[in-house]
Amino acid sequence: MEFAYRMPADWLNQITPFRVMELMKRAEELEARGHKVVHFEVGEPDFNTAEPIIEAGRQALIDGRTKYTHALGLLELREAIARDYATRLGAIVPVERIAVTAGASGGLLLLSALLLDSGDGLLITDPGYPCNEVFVRLTGGVPQRVPVRAADGYELGVDALNAYWQPNTRGLLLASPANPTGAVVGADAVRRLGDAVAARDGFFIMDEIYQGLTYGDERAITTGLAVTDGLIVLNSFSKYYGMTGWRLGWLVLPEGLVDDLEKLAQNLFISPSSIAQYAAIAAFTPDAMAVHEARRRRFDQRRHQLLTGLEALGLRVPAKPGGAFYLYVDVSQTGIDSLDFCWRLIDEFQVAVTPGIDFGELEADRFVRFAYTTDEESIDVGLNRIGHALEVWGA
Ligand SMILES: Cc1ncc(COP(=O)(O)O)c(C=O)c1O
Repeated sequence: MEFAYRMPADWLNQITPFRVMELMKRAEELEARGHKVVHFEVGEPDFNTAEPIIEAGRQALIDGRTKYTHALGLLELREAIARDYATRLGAIVPVERIAVTAGASGGLLLLSALLLDSGDGLLITDPGYPCNEVFVRLTGGVPQRVPVRAADGYELGVDALNAYWQPNTRGLLLASPANPTGAVVGADAVRRLGDAVAARDGFFIMDEIYQGLTYGDERAITTGLAVTDGLIVLNSFSKYYGMTGWRLGWLVLPEGLVDDLEKLAQNLFISPSSIAQYAAIAAFTPDAMAVHEARRRRFDQRRHQLLTGLEALGLRVPAKPGGAFYLYVDVSQTGIDSLDFCWRLIDEFQVAVTPGIDFGELEADRFVRFAYTTDEESIDVGLNRIGHALEVWGA
């Protein structure tokens, strides 16, 4: 009996695989042959989850907390999130408006299903987080890229928003701090963009998954919700809370959307992981927060180390990032296309970085993303190797 598995759904043809996956495969091959690869391509903290969270997860297992939970998440966790908004982030968010999800990825899937009908457009930035496009297309939506440039600090202006808004556009998705640029938006920008979106009867989603990972940029805000209440906010325990593998995040929704989102969450996921939720309650305890803050300071030091090191080698970071754990680096002065740059760097010097093409089209041939999610010693080794590469290539 033969089935038609060779014919994937049509919409899949619109999706391109990540180039970085091929580079990571090459890195693995090199490591299997005994090479030490320096990893600047990985978009997750190198630290393990903080001990208080692990302990809470262990206890939840021992206590048999292994059943489905409420589709919107455990009340205790939603209350802990609401308390954090009120006490640390400067926003009053009623617990009823918080929905716990399977990572921000689960949140993006739910939002796409909630807000986009077939043919509806969603404005996203170029460069931006690559999976956004896939979530939009999954429900028949149309991703609409708006270029954001280094010269403007990767800020999306109201003029650009208006210029790219189409008759079918329904809303805007904006990340701050952003991947791959690390750019943050300020309160004024959120207010201006919010006004412009509202004037067009659109919706505004802010992706705040790198919340907490900011480094003294005075424009950085704790949350868009402290600026305007009507936003949809997407967040996650992955990055600041160091819980990538636990797959847990949350949404903050306007009240009128909660019932429909709950209906979707029940059908698509039943509930988020129970163990991960019990563990995550401990993420807001003073002990765990002290660990997260210490790690943030380490990221800040590494950011400085990598930034100054790359600039000393003549590589440019045209807009200094205020957050996340990425540098978006212009390699055009080497005369090498950025994708070639990545391949030559891994093949010849065993340093892995992510090509700009994975994040969009705008000047993608000039840029590569460095993640400083590796220890300080490895950053130095990586910088030395890149210095050597530039000498050998005469770049
Ligand atoms: C901007 C952005 N949004 C969302 C995600 C999804 O994260 P998760 O599903 O781990 O919460 C990522 C992951 O790297 C990201 O960079």
